[in-house]
Amino acid sequence: MKLWSGRFEKDTDKLVDALNASIDYDQRMYREDITGSIAHAAMLGRTGIIPEDDARLICKTLSEILDDADAGKITFTPENEDIHMNVEVLLTQRIGDVGKRLHTARSRNDQVALDLRMYLRTQMDNIMGKTIALIEAICDKAEQHTESIMPGYTHLQRAQPSTFAHYTMAYAEMLKRDLLRLQDCFDRTNVCPLGSGAMGGTTYPIDREMTAALLGFDAITENSIDGVSDRDFVIELAGDLSILMMHLSRFSEEIVLWSSTEFGYIVLDDAYSTGSSIMPQKKNPDIAELVRGKTGRVYGALTTLLTMMKGLPLAYNKDMQEDKEAIFDAVDTTSLCLEVFTAMYKTLTVRTERLRRAASEGFINATDCADYLVKKGLPFRDAYTCVGRLVHYAIENGKTLETLTLDEYTAVSPLFDSGVYDAIDLMTCLNGRKVPGGPAPEAVRTHISNMRDFIARFREFSDSEETD
Ligand code: ARG
Repeated sequence: MKLWSGRFEKDTDKLVDALNASIDYDQRMYREDITGSIAHAAMLGRTGIIPEDDARLICKTLSEILDDADAGKITFTPENEDIHMNVEVLLTQRIGDVGKRLHTARSRNDQVALDLRMYLRTQMDNIMGKTIALIEAICDKAEQHTESIMPGYTHLQRAQPSTFAHYTMAYAEMLKRDLLRLQDCFDRTNVCPLGSGAMGGTTYPIDREMTAALLGFDAITENSIDGVSDRDFVIELAGDLSILMMHLSRFSEEIVLWSSTEFGYIVLDDAYSTGSSIMPQKKNPDIAELVRGKTGRVYGALTTLLTMMKGLPLAYNKDMQEDKEAIFDAVDTTSLCLEVFTAMYKTLTVRTERLRRAASEGFINATDCADYLVKKGLPFRDAYTCVGRLVHYAIENGKTLETLTLDEYTAVSPLFDSGVYDAIDLMTCLNGRKVPGGPAPEAVRTHISNMRDFIARFREFSDSEETD
């Protein structure tokens, strides 16, 4: 019999149950649901809304149910629709009428909003931790490769000198912004909706501040309609995860390219690559491809959530039950991708000699060659044209800027002298780009150390928030 069967003359059709029940996926919030109920019951007892003894018995029994659920001793059933009613039914099965007092001054509408906020807080913490681990892996590898010259690209054409450290630290910067976005989303999620009731608050003299404090919230929601109908925090999280996955997907694309024979910049560890069922020579970058592929699922969750909400009048509507599968999948996918990607990244080998060869074949010192003429007094646009002619000549004759003779240089501009060879030496070009943010080893070392400071501060801040 349904908890709400009083008003009805018939049982629901089986198909309705199949559509309506959410227990298959919302049971993963059992911890939050039970913890939230314990806080609610404690508050009901403290304010005298229900007898103190009843409140104590409810809290004690809910803790036992939580232990049993942790031990896998509980089977939740679709007959009881969702996690909220499953827990309430279990409670009344164990302590009879006393259990029926729990739902005083509460609705499933504020309850589900509470559970989801609590569950997503934990998931955000977990994802922030994994994002930090990846940033640290990038910093560790970068530290070993501040002098590993490679071409930087625009339009996927070799452009200007970079290093493996400079190149990959760009991804650390993106992930740093992801962390800040998640922290921001966490702050807006960490507001307690309990007390909003079905939508109109309650006439009971509840203590909203007490439940909010017991459950670790920073604040309480200020409008009961918004309290039950707001899913911005879910959409924001899906948006933040979409951006994070877009970053991982771009990095994955680099890994796919770099591990190809054509680039040959890196070698993936055998434990993090796969073979082909037919081509014995193959070693495939499946992890990077899957991370790139799974990015679409997370975007899908964002689209699902935005579309689900766009036509809903205030306040709660059952459409909103659909928020959970979407955000759960986005969270699971991002968490798994971050973890596997980090492990793959830590174990890959960088082929510095291949990077250097690519750097020396792509005329990536052409800008520096032009700058050399500028220093001799030529306007940049004229210097640019001279070097363009030199590059064209070198390509026609199978040479590089390094192997052109001084005669060949002076034929294009009399301003050239033997100093040009030092000016276009890759190490000179690299060291010269020591502007903050540039690829010079000393600039990148500063960046790495700033990044490590940021992580230390970020950690300190989140730890202090937890102990508050
Ligand atoms: N399972 C529901 C959900 O996920 C809980 C809230 C149900 N509220 C209601 N009025 N039927 O949204």
